Amino acid sequence: MIRSVVICWLLFIVTSRGKPTEKKSRVLQEEPLSQLQHDDNKNFDYDHEAFLGQDEAKTFEHLSPDESKRRLRIIVDRIDDNKDGFVSEEELELWIRNVQNRHMYENVEHQWHEFDLNNDGLISWEEYRNVTYGSYLEGPLTEREYNYTNMMSRDERRFKVADSNGDMNADKPEFMAFLHPENHEHMKEVVVQETMEDIDKNGDGFIDLKEYIGDMFTAENGVEEPEWVATERQQFYEFRDKNKDGKMDREETLDWILPADYDHAVAEAKHLLYESDTNKDGKLTKEEILDKFDLFVGSQVTNYGEVLMRHDEF
Ligand SMILES: *[C@@H]1O[C@H](CO)[C@@H](O)[C@H](O)[C@H]1NC(C)=O
Ligand SMILES: *[C@@H]1O[C@H](CO)[C@@H](O)[C@H](O)[C@H]1NC(C)=O
Repeated sequence: MIRSVVICWLLFIVTSRGKPTEKKSRVLQEEPLSQLQHDDNKNFDYDHEAFLGQDEAKTFEHLSPDESKRRLRIIVDRIDDNKDGFVSEEELELWIRNVQNRHMYENVEHQWHEFDLNNDGLISWEEYRNVTYGSYLEGPLTEREYNYTNMMSRDERRFKVADSNGDMNADKPEFMAFLHPENHEHMKEVVVQETMEDIDKNGDGFIDLKEYIGDMFTAENGVEEPEWVATERQQFYEFRDKNKDGKMDREETLDWILPADYDHAVAEAKHLLYESDTNKDGKLTKEEILDKFDLFVGSQVTNYGEVLMRHDEF
């Protein structure tokens, strides 16, 4: 059975070839804190999801204000890592980051039993390979089938890098690094390698402008070049090719696909602190947080208010 990872790849390949005017992105975004729009003038839904996670935020929507405050007190005690009675910006940031990663851990948990065929608590490369590429490994390739050989060896290489202790068995943190390399420092090199192999068509170890654009856009007869292509050319000269030698090396490629410039968890921690730090001493007491409980967790009441507002529109 060819599993979802591969199917995603295939869809990606198909769509990227199918629509020449559609832009393809190589940038590996960190998982967003929330899919919702962040506009505190409308509601605090984004903040709730960033602070609680999507599922927990839903649970809180059905709580009374009192219950919601009771639970928030417990959460604040957990955030106050060093137990000094204050929540600092760093503690808030760490909390938000853990909430953000919880989703990924749940995702790993969820997939685990599918791959751990012998239930020994580890996923061996052979198990992963059999589950992911099983049907391809079994039969001879028919003409219409995609040849997975390269994809499989690429997976194997990535698996080996993720497998920190080198026993070809992934425990949960190692499997996490395999599935979500963008969050792991030691995985960056292999992700850059994969990207360069895709794009560097002449194999000189660099991505030149032609290759850079060629990866996103295939010129076709009679199809006018979309405007973003010109913008991307300019981006290449202005931002991607930092040392201005006309091509991107590994380091420049890394800066492109894993940009380190904006950290949503940091931004959200600053935002929550700014909005609730009544005495402006740069840290939060439990009271300051509870005074703004609608910002952090919300409750039925805020949602009720929201429903009323929606009715007002009609
Ligand atoms: C993987 O599949 C091969 C061929 O079917 C089989 O011989 C092998 O035992 C399988 N390995 C695991 C770990 O399931
Ligand atoms: C699939 O690709 C690999 C590597 O490019 C090649 O060695 C192999 O012969 C191909 N298999 C088939 C059946 O075309």
